[in-house]
Order: sequence, then C-alpha cells, then structure tokens
Amino acid sequence: MAMHPLDVVIMAAGKGTRMKSSLPKVLHRLGGRALLVHVMDCAGQLSARQAVVISGHGATEVEAACAGRTGAAADLSLKFVRQEPQLGTGHAVQQALPALPDDGITLVLSGDVPLTQAATLQALLAECDGQRLALLTLRMDDPTGYGRIVRAGAQASAQVRAIVEHKDASEAERAIHEIYSGIMAVPTRLLRGWLARLDNKNAQNEYYLTDIVKFAVQDGVAVVAHQISDAAQVAGVNSPVQLAELERVYQQRLATALMEQGVRLADPARLDVRGLLTCGQDVEIDVNCVFEGRVSLGQGVCVGANCVIANAVIAAGAVIHPFTHIDGEKLGVQVGEGALVGPFARLRPGAHLGAEVHIGNFVEVKNSTLAKGAKANHLAYLGDATVGERVNYGAGSITANYDGASKHRTVIEADVHVGSNCVLVAPVTIGTGATVGGGSTITADVPAGALSVARGRQVNIANWARPVKPTGV
Ligand code: UD1
Ligand code: MG
Repeated sequence: MAMHPLDVVIMAAGKGTRMKSSLPKVLHRLGGRALLVHVMDCAGQLSARQAVVISGHGATEVEAACAGRTGAAADLSLKFVRQEPQLGTGHAVQQALPALPDDGITLVLSGDVPLTQAATLQALLAECDGQRLALLTLRMDDPTGYGRIVRAGAQASAQVRAIVEHKDASEAERAIHEIYSGIMAVPTRLLRGWLARLDNKNAQNEYYLTDIVKFAVQDGVAVVAHQISDAAQVAGVNSPVQLAELERVYQQRLATALMEQGVRLADPARLDVRGLLTCGQDVEIDVNCVFEGRVSLGQGVCVGANCVIANAVIAAGAVIHPFTHIDGEKLGVQVGEGALVGPFARLRPGAHLGAEVHIGNFVEVKNSTLAKGAKANHLAYLGDATVGERVNYGAGSITANYDGASKHRTVIEADVHVGSNCVLVAPVTIGTGATVGGGSTITADVPAGALSVARGRQVNIANWARPVKPTGV
C-alpha cells in the first residue's frame, strides 16, 4: 500500500438543537473532555498532516476550545473553516476544500461521534488506499434516521451503488439494515470533482455528502463498505440521553481496561474517570470514586468509597479513606508513600504530603509541605505552611495565612507539637521541638525547644452563685 498524506476533516457546524443547550453540541463533555476533543485525539493518532475543523454554530467558542488541546491532539496541525449558513454535510466539506491538497486522502469525521478508535480508521484508510471511496458502515436492528447502504444485489458483498438518506428512502430502501456511519475516506482529487456536482434536490433541500457515492459509481471508481459491529464507535450524540448512554459505554470500557491491568474495582459500574488515571500493581478502588485530570495511583494504593481525586500523584501504599476530596488543579497534590488520608479530608493545590503523613477527618491542606511522619488528625487547616518531620498538629488548629491582602507562610519545624485549637498567625516560625499550648494564638516566633502559651490565664472564683430568675413577676 502506497502511503498517502492524510487530511482529516471534522464536521462541527451543526446546531445540536436536541441538546437544548446554549453550549455548542461538540463542546459537551464525555469522560471530562469535549466531544470534539475526543475526535481530535483520535485523529492525532493517525499521523495526519492536518485536521480541518468546520465550525458554524458557536464557532468562536468551538475554535477557542481547541486552542488548549493536549495529549494525542497536541501535535495535530489544526485549521478552522466556517460554514455559514449550514446547507448540509456536502456543503460543509465544500468549505474545507481550499485547505485540502489533491495528493491526499480526506478522512471525514463528525465532531459529535466521540468513541471511534484509531485502529478502525486505519483499517478504513487502508481500504481507501488513495484510490477507492471507503465508507464505514454498520448493521443496525433499527436503522431509522440513518443513511442506508444501497447495494447492487441482495448479497452482503454486492457492489455499493448509493447511500440513500432515511427521509428520501423508499419502503424497500428503508428495509435495509446496513447504514452509513457518517465516516468516510476519499481520495481528495476525486472528492473535489464530486463535491462540485452536488445539488440539494432532496427531501431536506441539503447538499448531501453521501451523494458522492453515486458519482463514484458513475465514474467507475470502486466504493468499499468497511463494516464494523461495534455500534458505540460510530454513535453520535444528539441529546442528553445519548450523551449519558455513551458516557456509560466509555466508563465501562475504561473500567474494563483498568481491571485487565490488575486494578481491583469494587464495582466497575460505579467508577468515573474524567481524564487520565494510571495505576500501579495491586491498586484497589471502592465504589463511587471520581478521578479527574491526571491522577496516578502507586503500587498498593487503596482508595475508599466516595472519593473525588483530581490532578494528584498518590505514592505506593498510601490509603485514601472514604469521602476524601483531593484537587491539585494546576499545582498538583502529592501524597507520599504509606500516607493515610481521610476520611473526610480535603487536599487542595500544592498539598505535598511526605511518606507516612497522616491527615485525618475534616483537615484541609493547601499549598503546604508536610515532611515524613507529620500528623494532622482532626479538624484543622494548614495553608501556606512548611511542616517538619514528626510534627503533631492538634485538633482545631489553623494557620491564619491571609491578612486580607496577602498570603504569608507558617514554618513548623521538626518534632513540634501544636496543641488543640491554636491559631498560628503567619508569618511565623515554630522552632524545632517546640510545644504550643492548646488554645494559643501565636503571633511571634517560638524558639526551638520552648513551650509557648498565648492565651488568657485561667481564673477560678470559688463558690460562685449564679444569678437566679426573679419570681412572681
Ligand atoms: C448523516 C449522513 C447519514 C448518516 C448519519 C450518521 C448525510 C447527508 N447523511 O446524517 O447518511 O447515516 O450522518 O450519523 O451526510 N454538519 C455540518 N454542517 C451541515 C450539516 C451537518 O457541519 O451543514 C455536521 C453536524 O454538525 C454533524 C455532522 O455534520 O456533526 C452530521 O450531520 P447530521 O445533520 O447529524 O447528519 P445526519 O442527518 O445525521
Ligand atoms: Mg446526526
């Protein structure tokens, strides 16, 4: 097979009326990524020379959403063309023609079909081979609404003659179960000529891309139907119901892939990955966990039920107890080896926990580093803090890191013991081995080894008579 340069055309101009949303359809998210981004990621795996996105409805938003793409799509050279008004799929591809050199193969994809696999498209491209019109097709029990693959005879292998849209189809054609997926690969030099011959004399008064099949037949160009059986790969999103259905398919496939790597999921139906989750050996994940952005779980990590974990690196042997919320956003969160976090803990951007750190219930950590073995077990806040090894940070204690204008740092050196209900007013340093008495508000540095108590001294008044309520009034 000769290698032909590949140009991918992604149709994304449609309105998506049935989504009943102000967001352009192709920007709705599946697995945490816009539908269009799924399509671009897939195109990015095909060594394409470029991708041309045809936008129309919400074009500015669609184009902006493509700007920050990462992953497989990051290296894809991207062009945008606008289609206004939208006069059909053939008209859409006509808009892309000036960007498509004649020496290539054009692969037509839809921005609302997110689950196509690169291997499927590679097989379709091989069928095209720079000389044939290759259509991706599928047999459907209920083909209503789809374009039908009309063949010259009854056998499955009979020559493809045309695609007939549902609205234009006769009774006999509507009985055909083989449908066009919306995806085709076509030699660009032939495509150019065929698109010039389109008209809109049909039930929808649209320029149908699918009409090029009959021109190929007229011109004696071979038309091949590459039939697959996995309907999810060509399923489009037209409504919130279909979006949710495909989300489930996507999540089920991810869960299966994780289990095949050895990850133990309490229930594959109760896991949601909205980004990239990588797992070491012997990872266990209980029910109802959500992973977002990039999350890495080291060997033997256990994640309890109902955790939401985003943009975090969790090292080997760490245990994340139930109901913990971790979101590293751009700064990331790191949890060290053998650390224990939760239940009901909250780790925010820049929380870096060393090995064997313990973070207990209702403890919030933000932009703080905790060295090996440090503990904050109950009801506490550590923000903009540097915490040394083996520090014990008492229940109800907080760093007052914000003076209303700027953030300041709290340094708690190794082996410090901070009692309960303390306020450490930053900037402040608690020296190595120092002890802070419970209930203290610390506004000045504490020297190493000292005990600091900063609160009103206790007063006891003997035989105190409480006021009594007046009677007879
Ligand atoms: C199309 C096919 C049909 C196929 C079906 C598979 C045609 C004429 N029909 O029908 O054979 O079975 O897909 O899902 O191609 N779009 C534009 N500009 C337009 C019109 C559409 O960009 O002017 C985009 C849409 O946003 C969408 C894609 O093209 O991403 C398909 O358009 P849609 O209207 O859904 O086509 P169907 O009628 O479903
Ligand atoms: Mg459609």
